Amino acid sequence: MNFLRIAILSDSHLIKDKDFLGINTYDSLTAIVDLIKLNIDRYDIIMILGDLVQDQNEDSFEFFNIQLSRLKKKKLIIRGNHDIKENLPINDFFEYNEDIISNNWILIPIESYVKNKIYGEVSDSKLWDIRSKLINQPSLNGLIYMHHNLFETNSDWLDIHITRNFAHIRSELSKISNLRLVISGHIHQYTKNIISNLTFLSIPSTSAQFTSSTKEFTLDKVNPGYMELELYDNGEFKYNIIRTKSSYGIPDISPKPY
Ligand SMILES: [Fe+2]
Repeated sequence: MNFLRIAILSDSHLIKDKDFLGINTYDSLTAIVDLIKLNIDRYDIIMILGDLVQDQNEDSFEFFNIQLSRLKKKKLIIRGNHDIKENLPINDFFEYNEDIISNNWILIPIESYVKNKIYGEVSDSKLWDIRSKLINQPSLNGLIYMHHNLFETNSDWLDIHITRNFAHIRSELSKISNLRLVISGHIHQYTKNIISNLTFLSIPSTSAQFTSSTKEFTLDKVNPGYMELELYDNGEFKYNIIRTKSSYGIPDISPKPY
């Protein structure tokens, strides 16, 4: 059976010469890119789900470009709440992606970025656009990728930054019969939720890891990671979270909101 294999990474939050919540983000991104590069021939596409650079320093964007240029595959990127520059200084890939159709799948980006806000939002016009695209191509299996999450984590400090109209969006998406997967970043942790036939996944960050179900802002001690996703031409999929062997810092015990 044929399949597309995608490496998905997110939330690198690069800061030059300073830790992010206890993590050396330059080193942790390098380690993730090293891991992907080890198996680069396995991958068809590299997908990046936003929050690239925390300090907005040109050196950090340059570092990001250098790291990603080591992965010589097609790259798709979507903007996160920290990606605030009008034009993102990224080199060999583009922010606004066309839909990709391959192996009976269609990969569709949804921009959830709202200027000057941490939370996300998806407009109804985008939703209806995606809906008609999928309904009009019933032989294709749909995958949506976006920065913000559509499910709460049961951590109030994190859930205030969710896609604002999440309940409406996820309920409408779940009515589209050939949409199979929605993948997001932003919450720095792996989660899985299902409504009807639609699976919603969030992936770990390449930097600090957050926790679900905590009253205060709390970091997880698990190592940085990325997702390897296989999309089969019969509409099935498989995925795996791959984490670094080292930790790249000691997560702050009482982290400050960032
Ligand atoms: Fe984010």
